[in-house]
Formats: sequence, C-alpha cells, structure tokens
Amino acid sequence: MSHVQLSPEQIDVLLRAAVAAPSMHNTQPWRFEVNGHVIDIYLDGSRTLPAEDPSGRAMRIAAGTAAFNLRCAAAALDYGTWLGLAPDTEEPDLLARIVLQPSSTPDEQLRALYAEIPRRHTSRDPIRTAPLAQTTRIELVRSALAEGAELTWLSPEQIETVVDMFLDTDLREIADWHRSAERAHWVGGNRTGDGIPSSALGPRASNYRTAFRDMGTRPADRTRTQAAFEKHPNLAVLSTTHDEPADQVAAGIALERVLLTATRHGVAASFLNQPLEYDDLRETVQRTTGKAGFADMVIRFGHARPTAATPRRPVEDFLRVEEE
Ligand SMILES: Cc1cc2nc3c(=O)[nH]c(=O)nc-3n(C[C@H](O)[C@H](O)[C@H](O)COP(=O)(O)O)c2cc1C
Repeated sequence: MSHVQLSPEQIDVLLRAAVAAPSMHNTQPWRFEVNGHVIDIYLDGSRTLPAEDPSGRAMRIAAGTAAFNLRCAAAALDYGTWLGLAPDTEEPDLLARIVLQPSSTPDEQLRALYAEIPRRHTSRDPIRTAPLAQTTRIELVRSALAEGAELTWLSPEQIETVVDMFLDTDLREIADWHRSAERAHWVGGNRTGDGIPSSALGPRASNYRTAFRDMGTRPADRTRTQAAFEKHPNLAVLSTTHDEPADQVAAGIALERVLLTATRHGVAASFLNQPLEYDDLRETVQRTTGKAGFADMVIRFGHARPTAATPRRPVEDFLRVEEE
C-alpha cells in the first residue's frame, strides 16, 4: 500500500467539505478518523434522534452525504478515492472508509461538484420561477443512478397521494410529545454550532394541503410570516433497491450527488420526509412510485432565491488523526 500522509491543510479542506453536508436537523452526526491516506467515517452516538429517527437511517444517510463531499474534496486536491461501505462488521459505527490515492486524472465531475458544496443549502422557501428543464430532471435521475440509487419524479396524481399523507403525519406528530420535545431541542432560535436556526425555517404555508413541512415547534416559530407555496410542486423520491445499513449510506451518497448537481443548475431542494418516518407510510410512498425498493428521501426541487448557510461545528470537533 502506498503511503500518502495528508497535510493538516489538506485534512482541513477535506473535513470542511465533509461537514458542510446535510444531516437531519443539522445534528452533524459524524466522527472522522484520519490515518495516513485513509479516512474513516463513524457515527457519533451522542447525536442520535431517538424519537424521529429510531432506526438511525437518517444518520446513515448523513454519513453518505459527508462521504460524497469527501470524495469531491479529494478530487479537488488531485486524489482519486476508493470508497468502502460497512468496511468492518465488528464495528457497526464505522460506516464508510475512504482511501485516497494521488491521481494525475482526478474525476472532473467530482471536482466540479466540489465548487457547489458551499452553495448548497436546504431551501424551505416557496419556488419562485420557471419550471424545471427536462434536461435537468434527466440529469438528476442520472446522478442518482451513478451512485446506484433511483430518483423517481412523481406525476401530478402521485404528488396528490403523497401530499395527502402529510395530513396523516401532521396528526400523528401533534400527538407525539417525544417528537416535539426532540424537535424543539434541535430546531429554532439562534444557533451557532448545530441544529436548524429559526432563520432557516422559511415561511409557514398560507395554503393548507400543500407540499410543505413545517419544522418549527417553538411558539415564536409558530407565528412567523406566511407565504403561498407552489400549486404544482416538483417532487421526486430517492430510493434504493435494498434497505441494509450500507444501502442507506449509499442512499446518502446518491442524495448528495443529486443535490450538488441540482445546485450546479441553480435548483434548490428541500425535504418532505414526514411520511418516511413511519414504516407503513414509507411503504406507501415507495408503492406510489410504482417501483420496487425502499424510499429514503422525498425531495422538493425548484428555482428559489438563495438561502443562507446553517452553522457547523469547528472541524476539530469531528476529527481524530492517527500518525502512521
Ligand atoms: C436524512 C435527512 C433528512 C432530512 N429531513 C428533512 C425534513 O424532513 N425536512 C426538512 O426541512 N429538512 C430535512 N433535512 C434537511 C436538514 O435539516 C438540513 O440538511 C440541515 O438543517 C443542514 O442545513 P443545510 O442542508 O442547509 O446545510 C434532512 C436532511 C437529511 C440528510
């Protein structure tokens, strides 16, 4: 095995890119261990969401989004990468291992997507302008496929079926004190290191029964301004063929490739995952796509005004470096 000792500056570039990835409630549930030219991604067991993500699926998806950003940053630093999922069955918290290898032909697509990392933010605003170009829709399907996942655009009828489920989830959530307490812990207020600040919540929807998820639980967030959301949303479901932990990490990798590609086309995304957090409704969402598999994300795409970044913890918080 060749030995490439990454410099502190390179490690900083790599991990800054990794932690800019999306994670549910911005929990940033990652730990990274750098050993020579190998970066291991572990789950941070102190950052779980036991009420809203009891199986840990959302955490594993976040491990995948960070892994994809790492690959992009490695390409920008002229490295090729080898990625292994669930590399050690004895260590369930070790979800992915990335091995860097200097390369004279780093992946150009990954290099281009690296530039989009600081521009990608979840946008919870109503969509403002023109419908999505068919070429963009196709390219997003291809980006998911490139990482072994499937992105299915929903037809207007299928969107109706999914939006109908939101009424059901809203009722289930209202009655669930564990979920609201957990949400209030992570969402709302001013935030400096993690969680979703009130400023990122977007407006409340003035039209009910629409493609919208209100993440606000605190009283102040319940009275924020309202806006009408789009009558014809662009919704797509990201799915994988299997549902083992490694498949969920793979779903996250595909998700980030899709999101960065969308950013490159000036297309923003937000997530309407509420039905996926209940096993019965998750199955219904997948069945609605008309395909076999397991739904991992419901994504709303569109051209929206630029959104500000949410905070991240300092890179040192995530890192352990082993000297070779
Ligand atoms: C697995 C997963 C599930 C998510 N679910 C939702 C969701 O249902 N609703 C939502 O508004 N945002 C959702 N998000 C987006 C996160 O809240 C967001 O990524 C995080 O706050 C960081 O903000 P950023 O994406 O702007 O960097 C999800 C993200 C991930 C990775």
